[in-house]
This record gives sequence, C-alpha cells and structure tokens, in this order.
Amino acid sequence: MRLEGVTKDYGEEVVTRVLHGIDLTLMPGEFVALVGPSGSGKSTLLNLMGLLDRPSGGRIQVRGQDTSELDDDGLAALRARTLGFVFQFHHLLGAFSALENVMMPMLAERGRQDASMRERARALLGDVGLAERADAHPSQLSGGQQQRVAIARALAMDPALVLADEPTGNLDTGTSSQVFELLRRFNRERRTTFLIVTHDSRLAERCDRLVEVVDGRIRTDRPVTRP
Ligand SMILES: Nc1ncnc2c1ncn2[C@@H]1O[C@H](COP(=O)(O)OP(=O)(O)OP(=O)(O)O)[C@@H](O)[C@H]1O
Ligand SMILES: [Mg+2]
Repeated sequence: MRLEGVTKDYGEEVVTRVLHGIDLTLMPGEFVALVGPSGSGKSTLLNLMGLLDRPSGGRIQVRGQDTSELDDDGLAALRARTLGFVFQFHHLLGAFSALENVMMPMLAERGRQDASMRERARALLGDVGLAERADAHPSQLSGGQQQRVAIARALAMDPALVLADEPTGNLDTGTSSQVFELLRRFNRERRTTFLIVTHDSRLAERCDRLVEVVDGRIRTDRPVTRP
C-alpha cells in the first residue's frame, strides 16, 4: 500500500485539515506501529488506508491500483479481498457464536454457507487458542478471548494487510501482550502486513518499524532497533 500526499479535511463551512500530505509506503510482511498523541489523526489515517473513507487530496494505491478510480462497490470489493480490521472494541455480533462471527466475512463474500467455511473458521479459532470455545457467544468470553475471536475474524479472508486500531487498548498488560504476540505470529507465519495503532510504547518498540504522527503529519518514520 502506498500513500502519496494524502490530505483529509473535515467540515463544510468551517474546514479543518486533519491530515497534511501523508507519504507512507507499507512493504509486504512489515509489522508497523503507528503512534502519536490523541487527536493527531491516526484513526483518520487508518480509515483512509482501510478504504472506509476517501482522502480529500492525494493518492492511495493498493497493489498498484489507484483507489480513486474505483466506485464505492469497487472499494468494498478491494477491501474485502485485501484488508482485515481489528478495533479496540471488538464489534463482535452478540447474537452469534464465536465460530459464526469468524465465518461472517466469508459469508458476506460468498453469499451462502458451506462446510469449508465452517472448517476454516474452526481452524482459525484453533490458531488463536479458542478451539474449545467455538460455540460460546461473545458475552460468555473474557475481553482477551473476545479480542482473539476478532483477530480470527480479521484473518478469515487471508488479508494481505491488517489494520488494527488500538487492538489491545482495553486489555490488561498481560492479556494485551498475548494478543500482541498473536498478531506477531500471524505476521511471521503468513507474512501478513500489520499496521497497529498503539498508545503503549513498550508494544510499539516490539514492532519492526515505528511511524509517529503529530498534528496530521508524519514526524518520525524509523526502523525499531533492538539491543
Ligand atoms: N468525522 C469527523 N468529523 C470532524 N472531525 C473529525 C472527525 N473524525 C475525527 N475528527 C478530528 O480529526 C482529528 C484527528 O482525529 P483522529 O480520530 O484521527 O485522532 P487519533 O489520532 O486517532 O486520536 P486518538 O488517539 O484519541 O484515537 C481530531 O481533531 C478529531 O477531532
Ligand atoms: Mg484513534
């Protein structure tokens, strides 16, 4: 994914520019932390990269395709095929089991259920250590378990890039470290690219690259070096 000179304005009468000329390229297999103060534009940037919203200016390319050339259906199709999302609050559907929640993106893509979907969702729940809890509903799971279901769901379509907005934001330190390790493992095993917004500097330092946004501009973009 490549962003060139991306800007974002909010408001119609009073226009506020919240992103100013963002240039950012994510390489396949990278594991990147996105940090910055509250209100600096991290979620806005993630929404644009997630093709959930369009930039006010500049270009966003996904696998060489200029996304401004796509209509809303085209964006949705590209999003479903290439991107996965994990949010601070998991947004699982309470009326469905963990297994059904993980199957949801596959159902949306293919229109109807088949046995292979169920098998794949089971395997993903196994990968996140929840094979035994497949039939539990979200309210019967702990916060960390719910977040692991959300991760399994994000990976259901085998996305090239996963965008995570404070995926460990409402978890305790130990659980958040486990959830982080899980993302790390998928990154290593499948070469899935990750961009993770975090306020936790210890987690950020466990990524490969650190991008810092301040006042809607990239202030720092550096590799993370470990002792
Ligand atoms: N839909 C919107 N309409 C108008 N202004 C918005 C909208 N969404 C965000 N903003 C503004 O854009 C700026 C960036 O917000 P954003 O949510 O991207 O920040 P953030 O870096 O994710 O902050 P946090 O760390 O608190 O989540 C803020 O000043 C915010 O008030
Ligand atoms: Mg945010």
